[in-house]
Amino acid sequence: MISKNTIEKVFEQSRVEEVIGDFVQLKKAGSNFKALSPFSNEKTPSFVVSPVKQIWKDFSSGKGGNSIAFLMEHEHFTYPEAIKYLARKYNIEIEETQLNSEDKEKASERESLYIVSEFAKDYFKKNLNNSTEGKTIGLSYFKERGFSADTIDGFDLGFSSKEINIFTKTALEKGYDKSFLEKTGLSIFQENKSADRFRGRVIFPIHSMSGRVLGFGARILNNQIKTAKYLNSPESLIYNKSKVLYGIYYSKQEIAKLDNCYIVEGYTDVIQLHQKGIKNVVSSSGTALTIDQITLIRRLTSNITMLYDSDKAGINATLRGVDMILSVGMNVNICTFPEGLDPDSFSQDKSYEELNDFLIENSKDFIQFKASILVNKSIDDPILKAKTINEIVTSISMIPDRIKQEIYVKHCSRIMDVSEEVLFNSLAQLNKSEIKYFSKNKITKVQKTKKNKTVDVLFELEKKIIEILLLYGDKKEKFEEVILKKGENGEVLMEPSIVESLVYEKIFLDLQQDEIEFTNESFKNLYNLIIMELQKRNKLVLEVFINNLNSELAGHVTSILMNEDRYQLHDWISKDIVVKNKSGVIPQLVSETILSLRTYLINEKVKELQKNTLKESNNNEILEEITDYYKLKSLLSKKLNRVL
Ligand code: CTP
Ligand code: MN
Repeated sequence: MISKNTIEKVFEQSRVEEVIGDFVQLKKAGSNFKALSPFSNEKTPSFVVSPVKQIWKDFSSGKGGNSIAFLMEHEHFTYPEAIKYLARKYNIEIEETQLNSEDKEKASERESLYIVSEFAKDYFKKNLNNSTEGKTIGLSYFKERGFSADTIDGFDLGFSSKEINIFTKTALEKGYDKSFLEKTGLSIFQENKSADRFRGRVIFPIHSMSGRVLGFGARILNNQIKTAKYLNSPESLIYNKSKVLYGIYYSKQEIAKLDNCYIVEGYTDVIQLHQKGIKNVVSSSGTALTIDQITLIRRLTSNITMLYDSDKAGINATLRGVDMILSVGMNVNICTFPEGLDPDSFSQDKSYEELNDFLIENSKDFIQFKASILVNKSIDDPILKAKTINEIVTSISMIPDRIKQEIYVKHCSRIMDVSEEVLFNSLAQLNKSEIKYFSKNKITKVQKTKKNKTVDVLFELEKKIIEILLLYGDKKEKFEEVILKKGENGEVLMEPSIVESLVYEKIFLDLQQDEIEFTNESFKNLYNLIIMELQKRNKLVLEVFINNLNSELAGHVTSILMNEDRYQLHDWISKDIVVKNKSGVIPQLVSETILSLRTYLINEKVKELQKNTLKESNNNEILEEITDYYKLKSLLSKKLNRVL
């Protein structure tokens, strides 16, 4: 774990406008910055960064937060990845806690492997572009394959010389440790001899989601030579081929934006499609697709389109991939290419439009795909047909969501011309015999019920209370308390008196008095956290407070704070309320909000009681209760009128 100390330093030193400025073109707008949202394709800027508050808000998507939240949204980093990224950016040393000495060694070894890999990437890249051998052999090979200079540079492509150990020698001379060269597989040592693993090959560096070089793929230049076409880095502390997707670093944003991910088989497929403008694409690089790779994609989208070869091996790999993707609750389409062509060779002579149209028009869902394999063989063979139907139902049984299953059963029944009943029966049997790649839980989110208007009122009121607490919770204000007294004739009199207190105390006591609890989970959590913080320190430092929240709560807080920037404070002015000074507004705002909340809750209570009177025979008690509530309500509205 990264130490608290490091995290604090990162928060202290990072500036949200600098962090975001590395990814988004920011324009000054008053005390804020504005930009086109990086999360949507908008024409007018609705993305706001506040250097004062150290937060950002994207009004087009509703996202917002601090620097960390931005990196998590935009770069799809995990929390520790974001911290590490910032630490690197601001030259802060990362301290790890809770590491025993063995773990510490591992962490520092991992870091060393990263460093030597980064060096190798730069070395091979320079070698491709600057050495005679690199230029005449490597560069001309890439150009022959149709890669532009920008593409070659962008993907960090490189070249490793034919000479036996020139890379290894250079690395050792520069002080890189022999054991790290060996562990990354870049060099091979035997007795007193050394050799470069990838010699005489063009180099494809493999990047992590956050852009660090993990390993390499290296291709021979001549197809005739009887040796493996590609050599890859061996598994190491930093390179685990079943957890890596080639191209993910370059594609993650487009995958998220377009909400779909193409999976291809090879390095060159990724690069060629990118160059053509199809940028939401990754490759499993020759290994069978794994659950780990799929879950990597799931951080970005729940839709995958597989673009595998249409030879036998490709189809079998696709079929395995389909079931795995379905089993984690994701959606899968398949697009097949004409026999003998892969995405790279197919797209050589195509424009972006032609390619994109082809991909869209030829994408089939898994049922159509499985059915089409059958059609290619023999649709009339009943045994084959039954087998296909069984395979389709097996795939359907992988889907964790029962409603989705049902939709696909209907779809299959139509396409394959079998009754739904038969399909449901065999599905039920499969569902019983749980042959799943992945447990079904965790994936389906609780469906939110559609908000109706009454829920919105409560939501708005609860939000307003949070807003008041965030903005003015630690202010001392004079509140007009209305004390109720019975007059001589039994009528109720209201006697005002002025009480000074901190805003949060006033709110806390008022809500406690009525035993009011927030209904919205996030607001409830926020309320408790804010009150706790204020009780501890009598002060709320927003930047610090936000930094300690999880991303969801931080999102709520930033949208509340940024709304203030957007619309000015509240709508007092539009309500034509004459306000002498701002401090006069706050007590009024507090009282109005709390009274409105009370009135709302009483109305709800009365409604509920009225419903009960209809159901129950002996309802005297309930009627009495209702009468009491009505009295209370009229009192409250009197109070409210006083306030307004
Ligand atoms: N692969 C590998 N080792 C091999 C062959 C293939 O690791 N000996 C991996 C590579 O990642 C390769 C992918 O499998 O990109 C797909 O293989 P293939 O279709 O044979 O190669 P292409 O990507 O089409 O490569 P090229 O176009 O350069 O021939
Ligand atoms: Mn190819």
